[in-house]
Amino acid sequence: MVRYAGKRLTAKKVAKILDRIPHDVYVEPMVGLGHVFFAKTPAKVEILNDLDCGVVKIMKKDACKNPKSEKCERIKKAKITCGIDYKKIIKKYDKKKVLTYLDPPYEGIKSNWDQKKYDVDNLPLSDVMDTFKKLKGTGVLSYSPKRRKEICGGKIKCRTIPFKFWGQPRKDLLAIKK
Ligand SMILES: C[S@@+](CC[C@H](N)C(=O)[O-])C[C@H]1O[C@@H](n2cnc3c(N)ncnc32)[C@H](O)[C@@H]1O
Repeated sequence: MVRYAGKRLTAKKVAKILDRIPHDVYVEPMVGLGHVFFAKTPAKVEILNDLDCGVVKIMKKDACKNPKSEKCERIKKAKITCGIDYKKIIKKYDKKKVLTYLDPPYEGIKSNWDQKKYDVDNLPLSDVMDTFKKLKGTGVLSYSPKRRKEICGGKIKCRTIPFKFWGQPRKDLLAIKK
């Protein structure tokens, strides 16, 4: 559950930064429960995906508890897929002026409760970075600050997002590639 809990705590701060980046198309290929997605201002076109179809189902169900809510309307308008690897989604939608937010599970941290069904914890940072660096549009990546050296530098600008976990101060890293 690590992968969802952490995001709930930083979602508003991350969303504020995403909102400052001009974009008409927003792509989140590892959307999880959509904490960051729902915290940000809607874009004209929104493309969401997660490898774990169970999570996508929960996100949709949750958003439409009240079928007339803004959340539910937004989710109905978005293009949502599941069971697809993030790289395929990026290949399909990435172009100039598209904003892609990548929020992968942090390498080495086990978070999936159903490992047999969805292999979502097997994502080396080197693979993610390879894809991130090649984005044609703007990319934003959340990751552990412990891996700062492998992520930040050159065209990739980084900042830290402070938050509290059970009262304890923690930090997340946010990398931006324009
Ligand atoms: C940290 S969570 C995302 C949390 C999300 N940003 C939020 O605000 O709730 C990481 C997600 O990446 C998904 N994932 C892991 N490997 C993936 C892959 N290869 N392709 C697509 N999604 C993947 C996991 O299922 C998980 O839901």
